[in-house]
Amino acid sequence: MTDPGERLRSSLAADQSSSASSASSGGAADFDSPIAMEALRATRVLHAADQDPFPVPSRIRVITIANQKGGVGKTTSTVNLGVALALYGLRTLVIDLDPQGNASTALGVEHTVGTPSVYDALVGDNSLGEVVHPTTASPKLLCVPATIDLAGAEIELVSVVAREHRLRRAIEAYVHELPPEQRPHYVLIDCPPSLGLLTLNALVAGDEVLIPIQCEYYALEGLGQLLNNIDLVRQHLNPGISVRTILLTMYDGRTKLADQVADEVRNHFGDLVLPAVIPRNVRVSEAPGYGQSVLTYDPGSRGSTSYVEAARQLAERGVDLPPLERSGLAGANGAPPVTAQSTVSAQDSQ
Ligand SMILES: Nc1ncnc2c1ncn2[C@@H]1O[C@H](COP(=O)(O)OP(=O)(O)O)[C@@H](O)[C@H]1O
Ligand SMILES: [Mg+2]
Repeated sequence: MTDPGERLRSSLAADQSSSASSASSGGAADFDSPIAMEALRATRVLHAADQDPFPVPSRIRVITIANQKGGVGKTTSTVNLGVALALYGLRTLVIDLDPQGNASTALGVEHTVGTPSVYDALVGDNSLGEVVHPTTASPKLLCVPATIDLAGAEIELVSVVAREHRLRRAIEAYVHELPPEQRPHYVLIDCPPSLGLLTLNALVAGDEVLIPIQCEYYALEGLGQLLNNIDLVRQHLNPGISVRTILLTMYDGRTKLADQVADEVRNHFGDLVLPAVIPRNVRVSEAPGYGQSVLTYDPGSRGSTSYVEAARQLAERGVDLPPLERSGLAGANGAPPVTAQSTVSAQDSQ
């Protein structure tokens, strides 16, 4: 596994030798000072898009971030991966689908009752375009916030026609309304900690699932149930959906347990697990209190650089994705939409 610090150090040193002007006053030897290292890492993250943009995906990627366990890092990963993708040049839309509205908070987006939100698009008649808000993190990052109204949506949706397809239709309509140069490259959906109708909408809306797994006891408990649900959705509602990414979160290198869990997850899921691991890092947990992601709150922290590394790996896996037969989404680059069919035979490539 490449250590993000190591990788940054060598690429920073390369930058230094090729350019006379730099944020640092000295040569490469100064990187050995922890403060200089951190300052350079911060500069690197904040001026990311100019230096080292992430690759554009071959089509729009709608990624559902799901795990019915609470506190495993779904929201933290959605927010920080979203900010990283945007800072590194990719247009990204975060959809907050948890009534708690934690992703909205971390992106500095208002989500008090009455704020136009995802509820209005799911249960009401608003289009997604009417409930999209800018974020404080990046002009390339937009957010559809969740208000507490969403807590009632699980029940209200029961009587709505095509209730499982509401979010998918909303996203498709939103993308089609936009000119190609404004279409998102990435749509990230932050799920609530349950397997109810909201998560079901997110699984029907997504092309792929990213499961954050906390490197702790019981990490794998309940995962079978989630995987079964994803299988059911694939069989009956969304033939294109599959788990494409596992992200290990809250890794504490001081404990043997964290390594054991990480090994177990890698043995089980193989290449689906991103090489980058998110460490337990206090700056990550402080950031939302300031309405920020860790990348903007403390860009040089290990939490920040790990999320950048994870986002880069995620983006690198998006450059030659197979087309989605059943999707109605046009490519972010203006590629023509692929056939819009609601029922096609399963074409799972796993
Ligand atoms: N890498 C991390 N280091 C430290 N704390 C973290 C980290 N990731 C998440 N947390 C904290 O753990 C708690 C649960 O994370 P969260 O993303 O809200 O989980 P979920 O959305 O799955 O319920 C939050 O308080 C968050 O700030
Ligand atoms: Mg959450």
